[in-house]
Amino acid sequence: MGHAMLTIAFAPLDTILPLREKVIIAGTNRDSPYFPGDDGPDTLHAAVFDGECVVGCATLLLSEWASAPAWQLRGMAVTPERQRSGVGRALLRYLEHTLPEKAPSVGIWCNARETAVPFYTGAGFKIMSERFMIEEVGPHYKLYKPFSDQNTGAPTCSAPRHHGIVCL
Ligand SMILES: CC(C)(COP(=O)(O)OP(=O)(O)OC[C@H]1O[C@@H](n2cnc3c(N)ncnc32)[C@H](O)[C@@H]1OP(=O)(O)O)[C@@H](O)C(=O)NCCC(=O)NCCS
Repeated sequence: MGHAMLTIAFAPLDTILPLREKVIIAGTNRDSPYFPGDDGPDTLHAAVFDGECVVGCATLLLSEWASAPAWQLRGMAVTPERQRSGVGRALLRYLEHTLPEKAPSVGIWCNARETAVPFYTGAGFKIMSERFMIEEVGPHYKLYKPFSDQNTGAPTCSAPRHHGIVCL
């Protein structure tokens, strides 16, 4: 695939639902595309656009990690034709740079499908649990990445900030 200019932005739930449905819900035994908390006052949805077309998405719920406010990442998805081309990585970087400004928070955690674990560990997430099963979906691990290094306080996202426009 050639170079494409993609834009990343927070967006309403409706914008990301079709991609969530196609990539996350299809292939599982779940039938509802909605997650608890989707409409919560602090919940954010992010979309990666190629023009009008949504090629990536994620949902962020304001939650807790070790009793401190932290974001739970859910429903991270990239359209099959665009997987392994850097869309997920660009979205994650955007989130790492923008989420700390949205609310005081220490980092991002997620329950990742076993198949997606290398994507998260490659981005600096650490595996924080044993393998466990989520009914109707399959094996998962809990992963976490703090926004700043516990010892030095330095930001953990080494990638430069971008303002939602990436060329892949
Ligand atoms: C997981 C997912 C969101 C990753 O997004 P993506 O755009 O495909 O990932 P990227 O191209 O940005 O990958 C960045 C790096 O992560 C790693 N990575 C990504 N997917 C990987 C995989 N399946 N296996 C091993 N490493 C992987 C690689 O190091 C990759 O860099 P490289 O391609 O230069 O080697 C996407 O593949 C997806 O939607 N998968 C299906 C749904 C899903 O599992 N969602 C997550 C639920 S927890």
